[in-house]
Amino acid sequence: MTTAQRTAVRAVGTGHVRVEGRDKVTGAARYAGDVPFAELGYGWLVLSTVARGRIRDIASGPVLEMPGVLAVLDHRSAPRLETDYVGLLGIRPDPTCAVFQHDTVPHLGWPVALVVAQTPEQAREAAESLAVEYETLPHDIAFDGDRPDARPADGIMPAVTDKGDLAAELAASAHVVDEEYTTPEEHHHPMEPHAATARWEDGRLEVVDSNQGAAWVVGELANLFRLDPGSVRVRSEHVGGGFGSKGVRAHQVAAVMAATVLRRPVRVALTRPQMFALAGHRSPTVQRVRLGADADGRLRALDHRSVSRTGTHYEFVEPGAGVARVMYDADAHHTENRVVRLDVPSPTFMRAPGEAPGAFALESALDELAEKCGIDPIDLRLRNEPATGPVSGLPFAPRNLRACFEEGARRFGWARRDPRPGVRREGRWLLGTGTAAASFPAGAAPSTAAVTAEADGRFTVRTAAADIGTGARTALTLVAADALGVAPERVTVRIGDSAFGFAMIAGGSMGTRSWSMAVMAAAGELRERLAPGMDIPAEGITVRSDTTARLAALTAVERHSYGAQFAEVAVDPATGEVRVRRMLGIFAAGRIVNPLTARGQFTGGMIWGISMALHEEALRDPAFGGPVGADLAGYHVATHADVPRVEADWVDDTDPDDPVGIKGIGEVGIVGAAAAIANAVWHATGVRHRSLPIRPDRVL
Ligand code: MOS
Repeated sequence: MTTAQRTAVRAVGTGHVRVEGRDKVTGAARYAGDVPFAELGYGWLVLSTVARGRIRDIASGPVLEMPGVLAVLDHRSAPRLETDYVGLLGIRPDPTCAVFQHDTVPHLGWPVALVVAQTPEQAREAAESLAVEYETLPHDIAFDGDRPDARPADGIMPAVTDKGDLAAELAASAHVVDEEYTTPEEHHHPMEPHAATARWEDGRLEVVDSNQGAAWVVGELANLFRLDPGSVRVRSEHVGGGFGSKGVRAHQVAAVMAATVLRRPVRVALTRPQMFALAGHRSPTVQRVRLGADADGRLRALDHRSVSRTGTHYEFVEPGAGVARVMYDADAHHTENRVVRLDVPSPTFMRAPGEAPGAFALESALDELAEKCGIDPIDLRLRNEPATGPVSGLPFAPRNLRACFEEGARRFGWARRDPRPGVRREGRWLLGTGTAAASFPAGAAPSTAAVTAEADGRFTVRTAAADIGTGARTALTLVAADALGVAPERVTVRIGDSAFGFAMIAGGSMGTRSWSMAVMAAAGELRERLAPGMDIPAEGITVRSDTTARLAALTAVERHSYGAQFAEVAVDPATGEVRVRRMLGIFAAGRIVNPLTARGQFTGGMIWGISMALHEEALRDPAFGGPVGADLAGYHVATHADVPRVEADWVDDTDPDDPVGIKGIGEVGIVGAAAAIANAVWHATGVRHRSLPIRPDRVL
């Protein structure tokens, strides 16, 4: 290796197709359910058919006689688990994952048994034949915003923030908006269903899994099964989508239990219907937003309160009111997240948890305030750009929301917009345009990486990152190439293996920022060490990094990604049909590592926003307690025909004080997208839609 071989071309910022793209489209890439194992047993989960109760009996005897059946695990026979711990993400385990520990059934779809057989067909046949007898108890799934048992709850952020005198500022306001907004239960359905294979070998546990963080899953399994984390290895080379749903769930734990009991490898995969109960979901929300402003649109009062729903067995808070803590300041400012416990499965993180439903409410209310003030909605937002964090008081890292709106307005043609609602017709269609702001935190968490200069002149990066379809593997290839000063073709990035050490999960839009920091540190140091013309030994030269200390030394600022969302819709008032005609999102999201995959992240989020605005809604039947039509026929998501021209681009967003420069792009794209569409529907029709989805029957 000589300096002459180093490239002057910067890899970061240039578009690269996915380094594993060919493997994925040719089928060479193996997902968790594809990896072959000798003597593999197949586990099939049996889920409760009652919404609340107690297991009286499980007739495993007859099922054990069925062809190929190897075992039936339930609360009487399964290994005991340790559940009293706080995991790597600072979260206590969801009891749904601690399967088969007691006879209580807290919701429909609770895992009550695992049937293991020699083939998946035998396992399914036996699982469907397993007779489970229940004592049924009354259940309550009736969620609304007025429940007296809803109480403030922290979750990932403090429940309540409060400053100033709301009543006084609202009374002194020239214009007041006071409205309720609702969002439904929504489900994340990654293309690849959850699947895990567990096996023991020489006293070590290996799990091949589909997850958002191999090191995280190791930590949880080690805690649950009281194992030395050093004796557990989790591999997740390719992951077909996650969106917050792929942490530790019932199927991995059941697979480890069965592999332990049977002393052979066991695979457990979730079916699409099972995912409705076991993959987590986004809670419905009821949100009340009160805004008070002077005649010139300056906010005097901002009050955002959100109620969400969780299970009786586990508390997860969908923090809808959190987004107001960052977006807008006011003399009196109150935000509050409450939760009510009902007999439903555990909700969990789902793409932009809190921000997605929260921004629908807040950014719709801003649009209503703009209408009342007679001020352009972009202008209203820019007049209320806060100088420092409204709640934290911290300085902002470059915010650049103004630049997003200015660039977006120019490209969308916003200046030509007639603000009057319900006046544009094209045949049977009413036309309208709308906008909304987006934001999502740009955090980082400690990670480790190793970079090796190989004897053949190539470089290998090892870090326990997860590429859940984001293009993270490719992004890290570019980041490493830049830090090493070599062409990306000379860099191989290996991820998805807990053997590479601890690394942040692909979550909270923090993955690429966190891993890049570790990769940059190790690659930078390696580059220093390599003298021109130096001989590389056969085993290579490896430098390792750990970003824990670096992160602790960073100055605290409000660092977020931002965006301006624009939508044009056509509404047929005779049928209630809403068609999105075009969308534009302009983002300020730090350094864009790979424009090709970054654009996919942004537009993917925006398309999910279309789906959230117009299609997605899981309805629970109050009688049986489960979602109606729990499959992808009954749960509507936007399809290709629903998606028009969606454009995403970004403005320069450089922060000279930030050692990474990269921000999060995985979640900001969905934030505000549904509000932009709802605001466009109002502009088309003159009618406000404060409940999602905007179904035809609601438009009529
Ligand atoms: Mo994300 S909801 O943190 O995968």
